[in-house]
Amino acid sequence: MNTELQTPLTWVQIVMDLVVHSLLFIFTAYIVYLSFSHSAFLFAWHPALLTIGYTVFMSEAILSFSENNLLTRNRSFQWRVRFHWIMQTIGGVLSTAGFIAILAHKFVNDKHHFHTYHAIVGLITFILTALVGVGGVWTKYSYNLRQYLRPVLAKLIHGALGSILYFLAVITMILGLYSNFFVRSSFSSARGIGIFILIITATYVLIKPLTSCLMRFRSAPMRVSSL
Ligand code: HEM
Ligand code: HEM
Repeated sequence: MNTELQTPLTWVQIVMDLVVHSLLFIFTAYIVYLSFSHSAFLFAWHPALLTIGYTVFMSEAILSFSENNLLTRNRSFQWRVRFHWIMQTIGGVLSTAGFIAILAHKFVNDKHHFHTYHAIVGLITFILTALVGVGGVWTKYSYNLRQYLRPVLAKLIHGALGSILYFLAVITMILGLYSNFFVRSSFSSARGIGIFILIITATYVLIKPLTSCLMRFRSAPMRVSSL
């Protein structure tokens, strides 16, 4: 448990937190439902696993550092870091499986690879995920590695790249909502609702890391001698 005194949340913060978590789960459940009810076996795993990986696991992992997150706010920082990397690792494994599924699907059906905006931004997102994950391990041990890079900078870089990556994942998913598969299988206003949910939830997820990055960016030069 967190030993620091927590400021109680207002009812607006509680409602916002519950709404955002519900939207993340509703969006994911809808994509999983569409994937398995409207598409071929191998392809189905692509949108399903990638949406679970990014929308549920990566969002929850980043939100674990938010003071407004009802699930984790009473936990210690060490607990949140453990929760964060376990969630990111599970999300990374699911996303890799979803990525392999689309490659295999296209290979089996003799289709071109990386030809759409969704595919190209998706590939960049996927590669950046691996790099940010490695950077996360460095951040976890940044105190031991301090002779190579100051911990405050490691945290700043990891937080900033992690936020850019999350933003890219949202763009990839929005582009996925423009794919023939989604247009064919969903109802007419589903894309608009999906984009609305992704923008609202991404804003909520990214506010805390971006604020921390800004504060670290301002304070980093002054801490040169102390780290
Ligand atoms: C962040 C999550 C996602 C990532 C990183 C991602 C990545 C990719 C990549 C790299 C490809 C191209 C594979 C190739 O050309 O060999 C692809 C294809 C595809 N994805 Fe996704 N995807 C994501 C989510 C989604 C979602 C949510 C949907 C549908 C709602 C979707 C639908 C498709 C479709 C239909 C294709 C085949 C057509 C195309 O290449 O554009 N994806 N995805
Ligand atoms: C691609 C996957 C990952 C993404 C997108 C990501 C993203 C982030 C973001 C945005 C933050 C800042 C949170 C905030 O300030 O509110 C953060 C913090 C952190 N992450 Fe990650 N992370 C990833 C993987 C990992 C992994 C695999 C580890 C460890 C093995 C890790 C360790 C940490 C630690 C220790 C912090 C706290 C830094 C601090 O403020 O002291 N991350 N991560």
